[in-house]
Amino acid sequence: MKGLILAAGRGTRLRPLTHTRPKPVIRVAGRPILHYAVENLLEAGVKEIGVVVSPETEKDIREALAGYRVSYVLQEEPQGLAHAVAVARDFLGQSPFVLYLGDNLFQKGIGRFLEAFGEGVSAVIALVRVKNPSQFGVAVLQGDRIVRLVEKPKDPPSDLAVAGVYVFTPEVLEVIQDLKPSARGEYEITDAIQGLVDRGKRVVGVEVEGWWKDTGRPEDLLDANRLLLEELSPRVEGHVEGSQLTGRVVVERGAKVVGSTVIGPAFIGEGALVEGAYIGPFTSLGPGARVVRSEVEYSILEDHAALVDVALRLQESILGVGAAVRSRNGLPRAHRLILGDLSQVELA
Ligand code: TTP
Repeated sequence: MKGLILAAGRGTRLRPLTHTRPKPVIRVAGRPILHYAVENLLEAGVKEIGVVVSPETEKDIREALAGYRVSYVLQEEPQGLAHAVAVARDFLGQSPFVLYLGDNLFQKGIGRFLEAFGEGVSAVIALVRVKNPSQFGVAVLQGDRIVRLVEKPKDPPSDLAVAGVYVFTPEVLEVIQDLKPSARGEYEITDAIQGLVDRGKRVVGVEVEGWWKDTGRPEDLLDANRLLLEELSPRVEGHVEGSQLTGRVVVERGAKVVGSTVIGPAFIGEGALVEGAYIGPFTSLGPGARVVRSEVEYSILEDHAALVDVALRLQESILGVGAAVRSRNGLPRAHRLILGDLSQVELA
């Protein structure tokens, strides 16, 4: 069994964060999203892992996965999930494989999908019950067998949406070979699965256990951060002085927390500085981030982001790598903003 992680998307819904780097390397609860995918595959016993990257994402993805032994496959253009599988043909060979969307998170891992992949099964599809099925690919089941898939239906035939993990036999590669691009111009994995169903193959749906999160939008990142922080084991390896730490708090090596209050769950990354500050629940600080004489909660500060001398508490915020928010002293009392394209600021 091989694993194929897709990480060649454009991540348009997460701009401006994804202007400079790919979505799967953004940190949630202190780790790049992609790490959770690799760990889940390894835990399920899948050791031979390929990662599909684009010319734009390759460098950052390689850096984020430097500690893991994985292979890389280049997809020149993000022409759809089925296209990404097709370009990985040489890596996959004749092996069955797990297809894993690199921006998806599964609380309980992927073991149950592999267990369902028995004799005579051509594909296992992870399904999740959702309140808004019209926004997803939706499966129609007879028993455990998928008989039809509909992409973003106006009138959903069920509330079972397709989540981002699939197990396939190499048969799916033959189906993909015959696919035509969809109305939006992509080679769709749902069409490939429907192709298997149409050929009379056994395609099985298995419901996700625990929570599942697709980190497509900023609010999803914050929610994923919250869900992962809720499972944090507290650990203090950095320097804590004159501060109060309550609940599940991680202070990584080289981090400094001085004269501050930290209410968990919260993650203070390696080399970060928290001084005269308040860090509220569901906050993650990346390596080298700084919060000085400021308050923040339910937020993500990426590597080397800074919040300094800001009077009003920051919440539901994401600061990208190296982004800084500071107060401006003196007159005129005005806001001064240097924002990248598509940045969003809400002022009180
Ligand atoms: P999507 O979320 O569908 O696409 P995206 O990541 O480009 O984001 P957006 O819709 O905001 O522009 O992709 C799911 C995952 O699959 C994601 O990790 C990127 C990856 N992917 C590829 O590797 N190749 C592709 O051709 C596509 C479409 C996605």
